[in-house]
Amino acid sequence: MPESFVHPLDPLTADEIAAARDIVRRDLDLPSTTRFVTVRLQEPPKDVVRGFSSGDPIERQAFVAVMDRAAKTLHDGVVSISGDAIVAWHERPELQAPLIMDDILVAQRVVREDSGWQAAVRRRGIDDLDLVHVDPWMVGNFGDAEEQGRRVVASLSYLRENPADNPYARPIEGVVAYVDLGEERVMRLVDTEPVPIPQDPGRYDAEWVGAPREDLRPIEVVQPDGPSFEVRGNEIRWQRWRFRFSFNGREGLVLHTLGYEDGGQVRPILYRASLSEMIVPYGDISPSHFFQHAFDLGDFGVGRGVNSLRLGCDCLGEIRYFDAVMNDDDGNPMTVENAICLHEEDASILWKHWEFPDGGTESRRSRRLVISSICTNLNYEYGYYWYLYLDGTIEYEVKLTGILQTAAAAPGSDLPHATWVAPGLSAPHHQHLFNVRLDTEVDGPENTVSEVDLVAAPPGPDNPYGSAMTTRVTPLRRESEARRRTDPSAARTWVISSESENRLGQPTAYRLVPSYTPVLLAAPDSAVGRRGTFAQYNLWTTAFSEDERHAGGEYPNQHPGGAGLPEWTAADRPIESADVVVWHTFGVSHVARPEDWPVMPVEHVGFMLKPWGFFERNPALDVPATEARHCH
Ligand code: CO
Repeated sequence: MPESFVHPLDPLTADEIAAARDIVRRDLDLPSTTRFVTVRLQEPPKDVVRGFSSGDPIERQAFVAVMDRAAKTLHDGVVSISGDAIVAWHERPELQAPLIMDDILVAQRVVREDSGWQAAVRRRGIDDLDLVHVDPWMVGNFGDAEEQGRRVVASLSYLRENPADNPYARPIEGVVAYVDLGEERVMRLVDTEPVPIPQDPGRYDAEWVGAPREDLRPIEVVQPDGPSFEVRGNEIRWQRWRFRFSFNGREGLVLHTLGYEDGGQVRPILYRASLSEMIVPYGDISPSHFFQHAFDLGDFGVGRGVNSLRLGCDCLGEIRYFDAVMNDDDGNPMTVENAICLHEEDASILWKHWEFPDGGTESRRSRRLVISSICTNLNYEYGYYWYLYLDGTIEYEVKLTGILQTAAAAPGSDLPHATWVAPGLSAPHHQHLFNVRLDTEVDGPENTVSEVDLVAAPPGPDNPYGSAMTTRVTPLRRESEARRRTDPSAARTWVISSESENRLGQPTAYRLVPSYTPVLLAAPDSAVGRRGTFAQYNLWTTAFSEDERHAGGEYPNQHPGGAGLPEWTAADRPIESADVVVWHTFGVSHVARPEDWPVMPVEHVGFMLKPWGFFERNPALDVPATEARHCH
């Protein structure tokens, strides 16, 4: 990249990842059994970023976490790549690193070699053990004494007779092997009364489906003059939007310093916007499934499952792709090509009016800039899409697809916590609860968050027709006041206002508009509830702190709970006219249906951030009218 585009928030390059790994290996004399959990950019402080000018010297640092499974240790710290030295290094006792690829491979091997597991599978009529697919799962922390202080996964098994079969179609129900990853042995085997293995292989590939429909005519997106965006290293400029992006193994795609150019100045809106955590709790209490509630970021990392995208399939139009660079378990750089997709797309109408009945018509097309990636976490795919619109709207959308978690059940049996999706195959009720961290800087670092409801005015002389409406605006002054849930009957939104005023004397602001807002159903004092407290509320607001990045804590794997947002907000810091971080939980409570099988049509969830007195009027009046060039 040209020197002038280099910036302190650029993600680590492959060379920088290798250099950070080498410094740690050299200075700490690590045993050969050490595995690198994380090597990512240690972002510089905000004042360094805000004060940066093109060409300034940049101190490059990496955040590095390493673990040793046999020694049961986890360490992390900061490495100066430019200074060729370790800056800080900490032991993290009693915490577990997220699962790494090596854990999964070890668990699969250990399970296959275990005679108890082999006997349990054979007892179900499967003689060729090579046909069994093994999925290791994080176990959470249900207080089991034997699991404390050990690194543990629970492995589910599936029959896959043909490599093209969908493993989740044929669960080998009731066989769960708990693996102690440190000792590399099965520490406990669950082997319940056998349930018939479903017969349908659940395939969805073209060969199995047969002749495709033939009446779909092509849709081609043509941009004869190319796209309207400009790429300058990791900075994107599109219309009046300016932002940077990065990618890491835990959070996936991250947006930085997003602002809008207005009157020759870039007005800041978001300092950093990222997925912070995701919890996917399942509501089945059977011995094979009660433990399932993945923290997809903290227990593994969504970026590590990022897909290499394909033009015409995953993305349509004039696409610019970017690679993602992460570390593997040995600390080597690992590049996924075409992991991030940038393009523009038509978005229906932007605004319109016909001056009824005899005046003119003005109408404009909307379009949006899309930056996205698609990540696989075992059975599920999640597409993460940020959209920027011409009218100042910012939207985040998660597209859920892939394959349901399943359980085999005897045909005709009762399913109190699941639905049937195929003969003999059920899918437990579950939730996908995402938490997004929005480090806001609307027109400056100091912001205030207020809850805004639209409600009926109280009855009385001031409401003579009973039809009066009024807004109820409640500033959230301390962290304890800022744990909130949505109220659709009051059209509840949260307004993030600045210290600046618009021409009407109102603070300039952006408004968080929630849309898909279930909250965690597990009881607050349950094992799942204690670990997933962040998901009990749709909104949290905290005072900014650099190391508060993940709503469920830095190392949730096997954590007993209480980490992250509940821990930080116990201090009840003031958050009025302050550098604040807004955390929004949204998602889907998923009752599976037959149409979700064998591969799920995309389910859409997300939220919007809309200007709220940020502009003086509709900022998209100057979008030109367009004419189609051709139509059949
Ligand atoms: Co689901």
